[in-house]
Amino acid sequence: MKELRTQVVIVGAGPAGLLLGHLLHLEGIDNIILERRSREHIEHRVRAGVIEYGIAKLLVESGVGERMLRDGLVHHGVEFRFDRASHRIPLSDLAGGKPITVYGQQEVVKDIVAARLGYGAPLYFDSEVTGFDGLTTDQPSVDVDTPEGKLRITCDYVAGCDGTLGVANRAIPQNIIRRYERTYPFSWLGIIAQAPPATDELIYCRHENGFALYSMRSPEVSRLYLGVRPDETLDQWSDDRIWEELSIRLATDQVPEIGQGPILERGITAMRSIVIEPMRYGRLLLAGDSAHIVPPTGAKGMNLALADVRVLSRALLAQLIGGDDTLLEAYSATCLERVWRAEEFSTYMTQMLHPSYTDDFENGVQKTRLRQAVASEGAATVLAQNYVDLCSR
Ligand code: FAD
Ligand code: DHB
Repeated sequence: MKELRTQVVIVGAGPAGLLLGHLLHLEGIDNIILERRSREHIEHRVRAGVIEYGIAKLLVESGVGERMLRDGLVHHGVEFRFDRASHRIPLSDLAGGKPITVYGQQEVVKDIVAARLGYGAPLYFDSEVTGFDGLTTDQPSVDVDTPEGKLRITCDYVAGCDGTLGVANRAIPQNIIRRYERTYPFSWLGIIAQAPPATDELIYCRHENGFALYSMRSPEVSRLYLGVRPDETLDQWSDDRIWEELSIRLATDQVPEIGQGPILERGITAMRSIVIEPMRYGRLLLAGDSAHIVPPTGAKGMNLALADVRVLSRALLAQLIGGDDTLLEAYSATCLERVWRAEEFSTYMTQMLHPSYTDDFENGVQKTRLRQAVASEGAATVLAQNYVDLCSR
């Protein structure tokens, strides 16, 4: 077995692992990123699209935001549709002038991979972490299956950035970890379509048939979602049925129909919330989806993942360069405070916009909440501030 040593081993090359590796590299801390999938796979995995103000700033300040500044779509408002009417929330006016940027997660991934390969820091693709040793000692080690054979890497710290289904959160003993979990009675069917976006801003829509979301990736490409029942599968949704349902749910009495075009990608994602506490076990630190999942309605998943590693990179820096443990000791509590705020906001958005198929009392409450969100300046301000910049706090 080949053996290596580094300061920080990072498991997973999603947004969290990649940005952590980049931030540590900028501070001169050696790190190795291990990713079980191929470069091709992670650079084309279509997921989130909304980048908060403070997180966009983090990407720019760390030198990986150039393409996002050029190609990202800057939005100052968001639309809510219900009862065939459209209501705009002026996000920037209500959130101190701050906008959001619409830029695909896989583009963020491509930008950081390109930077890392450019300066030649180690990033192993097709390399799966299979286990850990000595996580509660000062010399933990990580076992990896690479295309060239087995590898053991000893290090000072391990960052588990390997998503919910990774190995890192499972390495924490059951008697230490607390897992909070909620599943929702619907999933999202998401498509990417070769169709110019019909509007300049995102549309979150509540219709009696279910939720719909209109987003975009470029002036030529739209990203749309439909709330569906959790047991529904893609083969039940022909292209015609998808477009028909989107047209029904997004229809208003004021604006023209949405544009249609060939569907380039499609997928169904279950909706759930998970919080794992604490986000640290000895020398293992969890970040991003390995520690928490939010339902996508608040557009917080990637933002939270990047916010975690901003905190983690500073904490590791203080420890490894200055010998100061204070930030690392506070890491889990610092992140969890924000994670719970994001869970609250994502739950609020999810519950307000997904009609119940069985409970009309719930539907009455939802509609009132939605009317309040667009009619009350106080409610709209809280929504705008949480939507635009929750992760900076
Ligand atoms: P990930 O992006 O999951 O990265 C983890 C990486 O670790 C992966 O590349 C994985 O291959 C790798 N890995 C796992 N196990 C190992 C191992 N043993 N060894 C080595 N590598 C390993 N959020 C939104 O806000 N809006 C959305 O529309 C949205 N859509 C989503 C759709 C899907 C299908 C999914 C799964 C998530 C979606 N999310 C969305 C959430 C958002 O994409 C995530 O919050 C974000 O990807 C978190 O980044 P991460 O780096 O923590 O984890
Ligand atoms: C997108 C995804 C979201 O989950 C969301 O709330 C808004 C936009 C998107 O993929 O563009």
